[in-house]
Amino acid sequence: MKITDFYGYKKTGRKISMITAYDSTMAALAAESAVDCVLVGDSLAMVMHGQDSTIAATVEMMALHTAAVARAVKGKLIVADMPFLSVRKGLQPAMEAVEKLARAGAQAVKIEGLEGHEEIISHIVKSDMPVMGHLGLTPQSINKFGGYKAQGKDQASAERLVAQAQELERLGCFALVLECVPERLAGRITNLLKIPVIGIGAGPATDGQVLVMQDMLGLYGEPPSFVKKYLDGRRLVVDALNNFDSEVKNSVFPETKHGDSERNGEVAEAPYKSALRR
Ligand code: KIV
Repeated sequence: MKITDFYGYKKTGRKISMITAYDSTMAALAAESAVDCVLVGDSLAMVMHGQDSTIAATVEMMALHTAAVARAVKGKLIVADMPFLSVRKGLQPAMEAVEKLARAGAQAVKIEGLEGHEEIISHIVKSDMPVMGHLGLTPQSINKFGGYKAQGKDQASAERLVAQAQELERLGCFALVLECVPERLAGRITNLLKIPVIGIGAGPATDGQVLVMQDMLGLYGEPPSFVKKYLDGRRLVVDALNNFDSEVKNSVFPETKHGDSERNGEVAEAPYKSALRR
């Protein structure tokens, strides 16, 4: 999927799927799948680094993980998050951050919120780096929101979100992520905008959906209620680890076929090749 496909999909009603990836192993799985688009989300601060919120993500972290993802993903759009405060330190630092992410392999950046960074969004777009907007429960704003709370629930805040979504489109964003807003509001914004709206916890009326991969695979903690678990990954992985542990302790693994000594070293490199050279 290319950026230019986004508008066509909106017109024809073909839904867009986006999934997060932060490392080469999971990105290779996303690349092998039919999922349209990969997001190197700043949620990596929590999922990969065990932090309490996305506020801990830095430009350096984002660039490192984007490069790891880009090595595994070819032919799908890679979007990277601009982390907390990276668009609030002036035009030059913001553009340096965009450059780091682009050189790491991002083909677009996602920016949370709107107020106060209109000029920077416009400048990034005019510099030919596509920008994806992100409104609603923007996790970088949890300190202002007082926690992970759905947004746009009263009339005034709903109208504010509609106006902000329209402004992001006017500034040149190619798509918008709408997180944790009421279904009807998400539908209204989706119908008003020409650019695709990708929802998360915003119901089925949007033009597409995004999920954190570790959430939908059941690998990361207890996910929010809007996440559908497509796999009981935690259970499967822990069961596999327990099998390994038990087989080691009972001398079941390794068997002769897993050893190298009878093969004159010819398979010694194979596991590394299969992990790294897909
Ligand atoms: O950082 C992230 O993973 C995100 C998505 C959940 C939209 O922003």
